[in-house]
Amino acid sequence: MISLKLTAKAVKSYGLLLITLFFCAGSFAQQGRQTVDFDKGWRFNLGDVPHAENPATSDTKWRSLSLPHDWSVEGKFSKDNPATPEGGALPGGIGWYRKTFTVPASSKGKLVYIDFDGVYQKSDVWVNGHHLGFRPNGYISFRYELTPYLNFGGNNVIAVKVDNSVQPNSRWYSGSGIYRNVWLVTTSKVAINHWGTYVTTTDVSEASAKVNLKVQVKNASASSSVTVKTTLYDAAGKVIAAGGAIPSKDQLKDTVFETEATLTVKNPQLWSVDKPYLYKAVTQVLSGKTVIDTYTTPVGIRYFNFDVDKGFSLNGKAMKILGVCDHHDLGSLGAAINIRALERQLQILKAMGCNGIRTSHNPPAPELLDLCDKMGFIVMDEAFDTWEWAKAKYDYHLFFKEWHKRDLEDQILRDRNHPSVMIWSIGNEIGQQSDTSALRIAPQLTAIVHSLDKTRPITSANNNPDKNNKIIASGAIDLVGYNYHEGEYAGFHDRYPGKKFIATETTSGLETRGYYEMPSDSIRVWPESWDKPFVREGNNVSAYDNVRPPWGATHEMTWKVMKKYDFLSGMFIWTGFDYLGEPTPYSWPSRSSYFGIVDLAGFPKDVYYMYQSEWTNKDVLHIFPHWNWTPGKMIDIWAYYNNADEVELFLNDKSLGIKKKTGDDLHIMWRVKYEPGTLKAVSRKNGKVVLTRLIHTAGEPAKIELSADRKLIKAGGKDMSFITVRILDKDGNVVPDADNLVNFKINGEAFIASVDNGDPVSHDSFKVSYRKAFHGLALAIVQTKEKAGSITFTATSKGLQNASLVLTSK
Ligand code: GAL
Repeated sequence: MISLKLTAKAVKSYGLLLITLFFCAGSFAQQGRQTVDFDKGWRFNLGDVPHAENPATSDTKWRSLSLPHDWSVEGKFSKDNPATPEGGALPGGIGWYRKTFTVPASSKGKLVYIDFDGVYQKSDVWVNGHHLGFRPNGYISFRYELTPYLNFGGNNVIAVKVDNSVQPNSRWYSGSGIYRNVWLVTTSKVAINHWGTYVTTTDVSEASAKVNLKVQVKNASASSSVTVKTTLYDAAGKVIAAGGAIPSKDQLKDTVFETEATLTVKNPQLWSVDKPYLYKAVTQVLSGKTVIDTYTTPVGIRYFNFDVDKGFSLNGKAMKILGVCDHHDLGSLGAAINIRALERQLQILKAMGCNGIRTSHNPPAPELLDLCDKMGFIVMDEAFDTWEWAKAKYDYHLFFKEWHKRDLEDQILRDRNHPSVMIWSIGNEIGQQSDTSALRIAPQLTAIVHSLDKTRPITSANNNPDKNNKIIASGAIDLVGYNYHEGEYAGFHDRYPGKKFIATETTSGLETRGYYEMPSDSIRVWPESWDKPFVREGNNVSAYDNVRPPWGATHEMTWKVMKKYDFLSGMFIWTGFDYLGEPTPYSWPSRSSYFGIVDLAGFPKDVYYMYQSEWTNKDVLHIFPHWNWTPGKMIDIWAYYNNADEVELFLNDKSLGIKKKTGDDLHIMWRVKYEPGTLKAVSRKNGKVVLTRLIHTAGEPAKIELSADRKLIKAGGKDMSFITVRILDKDGNVVPDADNLVNFKINGEAFIASVDNGDPVSHDSFKVSYRKAFHGLALAIVQTKEKAGSITFTATSKGLQNASLVLTSK
């Protein structure tokens, strides 16, 4: 079945930049290597403290907490915060984190590292008073070696200073603090280097595939003789191939040496968005028969292509990338990473038919890529929002010259083993598009990427993708990325003959969930132009997909063009989820975006179902708006549907007629004089009913309904249950304008991590145990504690019937 070819090749250490990638949360030991979740037992102080790096400085009055932690989201919204509403209107500042920990005496002779997945921003790290380094980039992962400064068998103090005081430094909400996971890694003196494996798959077909693995081993011992062995397992844990190499004495003199293995796998299970099959390569370093290191690399076997005329294909099958852009925040949880919260976002997007994620505009949390590997998303992994020119006064342009090489190398090294990653982006709407300096910088950046990975195309996201664009003119990028300009897609090949296309960013449709303005069939352009302030009572935006900013388009406008041409390989819609900051078309009092297909709390807006009807095979019939209006008012009723020839609408059992989509229609509409009662829509195919939907006029709020996305959750302090709160009338209809204040109580082994309702204008804290409903809905996020047990969650509201539910933490 398997043929194996191994070569061993010494390479010079090129000062590999230090960061790491893990495939699951929690502490785990692999023979010879220990990776400890280092998130617990930290102390935190908001504000600068002189000499806090010195272990002798007391931290006993500091707050105790567990990471990941974002202090900004705990603060108060204010238009005076220097982040501005664009940055989410939450406070920044300086924060200190410290952790006292012991390292066993038995670890003497081993190498100990601390790995930070991401700290926003400008972090300095010390161990036992010794300065380990500074990293300005708030999204990059990095590692420091602790070995020379540790007290083995005694106490040690890690101190981290985070400086997010100088703002604005971002066009969106960044969060502040050690907002991603931290790990303590202990290895032998001869061990696989940080991000020390590189897997590629070549000659892939249904019949066979080559899995090529390069392994970098760091040798910190004077003399050693080792064997490097890799075993490939399938998803069921069955051994598929194994082989090893014995580096020669000469090679072992190098600080870092590299071995290569090529495994041929017969009848491979290919990775795809529908069936994201993962193998894993387990590499061991052996001294004699003793395993002195173990390192696991996920392997997805797939091939893909971007074709000038035919667009994108995966494993030989033509398809479009149906993606969204998202920022890194998790709504009311702020920037603090939580795997379940991220997984929930991806599940909601997957159910819409989405198959792609753009990590706008920075390296993501490593767990996002793990999830995309497992769940089947194609990732466009983006590096920068700025090069040398500023967008916000204190943003990364201040650091680009000194740090871009290191940051970009680290991102590629960390992320290049993920089968989900299929595009690298060297920048978003870089100001220097229009400047000849791009002719110099774009090739430099692509050379950095190519030096570490040649298996994926490189793009840049261009908001001025015309002939004056110097990034495109540099010839350095493989895929020409258009942001917006859907009206120019058709003429792409006249402008760029022989080039490959990707819509790096599209749409920017604006909607408030549950809010409707008629007439629905006229498009509002808000603001009128990007530099004109826009003010309007209530700060709402109609959810009929009839509002767009001047640079953007509605969802329907964009998708109609996108589906028309094969060469358009795919799109990344701005955005999947609402995010904190950038409240276009408004400014204060708004503090979060209107761009999401899904609101900040995770509740889909209506246009979600337009995509679902187009992007999935499941039967869809979605009608809106609600049915509570002033009698006599003319109301536009829309339906998104699929898998049917027609939809008939009834009002109080009287037919309002049958409608069908014609031409490139994506919805149908009835204009109806409102009278209270029941709307009924029926979709039919060949005369047979496919789906029926009812909307009743709701009465006064009478009761609360709770539903948890998961009732059985994991103990240990990280897992979450997302509880949707609905305000119902006495007959069980959601009251569409209900804004009742709901109080939550929790008993047992869990706490309320945050609350939300998706309202971009609310200034209530997310970190409390009450929330007003917004258009009938609210959300409470429950997080487990360390211990297992039963959890009772209760919601009460004045004048309403209470509700409660029981969760189990196991
Ligand atoms: C784009 C930009 C995004 C976001 C979006 C809002 O131009 O790349 O970061 O600002 O506009 O429409």
